[in-house]
Amino acid sequence: MAQGTFKSSIGTFAAVAGSVVGLGNIWRFPYLAGENGGFAFLIVYLFVSLLVSLPVMLSEFSIGRSQRCNAMRSFKQISGGPWFLTGMLGVATAYVIDSFYMVVGGWSLEFLRKSVMNEFSGISPERMTEEFNAYIADGTGPVIWALVSLALATTIIILGVSKGIEKMNKIMMPTLVLILVILVINSIFFLPNSQAGIDFLLHPDFSKITFKTLLAAVGQSFFSLSLGMGAMLTYASYIQEKEHLPSTALRVMIFDSSIALLSGLAIFPAVFSFGIDPSSGPHLLFLTMPNIFQQIIGGQFLSIIFFLFVFLAAITSQVSLLEVVTAFVSEELKIKRWKAAIWLLLTMGITGSMCALSQSDMDIFVFNGHSLFDIFDYVSSNYMLPIGGLLIVIFAGRIMPERILQSQLTNGNEKNTLGYTVIKFLIRYVSPIFISLMFLDLIGLIK
Ligand code: PHE
Repeated sequence: MAQGTFKSSIGTFAAVAGSVVGLGNIWRFPYLAGENGGFAFLIVYLFVSLLVSLPVMLSEFSIGRSQRCNAMRSFKQISGGPWFLTGMLGVATAYVIDSFYMVVGGWSLEFLRKSVMNEFSGISPERMTEEFNAYIADGTGPVIWALVSLALATTIIILGVSKGIEKMNKIMMPTLVLILVILVINSIFFLPNSQAGIDFLLHPDFSKITFKTLLAAVGQSFFSLSLGMGAMLTYASYIQEKEHLPSTALRVMIFDSSIALLSGLAIFPAVFSFGIDPSSGPHLLFLTMPNIFQQIIGGQFLSIIFFLFVFLAAITSQVSLLEVVTAFVSEELKIKRWKAAIWLLLTMGITGSMCALSQSDMDIFVFNGHSLFDIFDYVSSNYMLPIGGLLIVIFAGRIMPERILQSQLTNGNEKNTLGYTVIKFLIRYVSPIFISLMFLDLIGLIK
């Protein structure tokens, strides 16, 4: 019961790019780079993306495209043993990440609404913080907007692989790039003292590069490239045979890094230009930016396109997460795609609402002082993704028959056979070793 295929090369690229470009690019990368040696960090980041993440992406691509079904079944069809559990872990991870991702998607919608209604105008920074905290604490708004965000993602999923996912990304991704270019031009050329922000992001400081930085770069690259949980695997099951997977992966990686860098160039010059302390995370996007927009000419317009940009980045990633679970439910329960999507709208609607409410002042869904939102975020990026990624490369490099990997990556021995030898080496040795080190570091076994 195949879900469909992406019809064109450009549509394939847009869909995969839509998944990888997300909140990771906007709020995590720029800050990490600024704090960890600027341009030096960028070089390290590109280096590990090529050596560690790209092999994982190609492993997922090969498994997915050769089997043309959901993550769990792909593993099961290739190997009879317990490897299907790797696919199950992927589906579970997608479910968990989507549950809190939809909450942030919801925030961006609320902030888009506020920008359109010009509600930020004339509000002091202190008041802005108070309002943001009150909004989160109340819980009702975040739950409603999270559900709206989920409903939008569900609609796209129901429209189908080509008519929904591919088409949406073909419209949304160019819009996202266009908005980002406008924001960057404005930040660099029209704001006073923008140089300080550019310096923060790009000053090359090689003394900041340590072994830990290297591992942080691996973690960031992993999350940013949507690896380790079957999103790339599921999308690959819709990619046509004629596409050359290594080229697609390389292009997507370059695109993802460029968007991350450009996001930094849109955000930091603005932050420094107003002498605000750069911080990472939600505060940067949802407090600092509206605050800045208020103080500049054309601020309302910029604020609208900025939150549209955040929303586009979030929804296209959210759809890819939801697709992993939808394909699984639809194929395994043998029900139609739209029915699976409606079931998920109901169940994920509940877990997503729980995540939103866990941050409210109702004091529910909080465990040992940690909100469900934070627990989901922490456990998925620190444990589920690296473990999933490690199992995926080991599977592709050592368990799956080599002819599958070879024919997927060389289009049946026609293209780039020399590159294949290098990729195979990375999949078998370099990538698993690095991911293991990253994991040992996270659980505190490396000092
Ligand atoms: N890559 C997305 C981002 O950068 C997040 C994501 C992770 C999306 C895993 C899908 C799967 O925000």
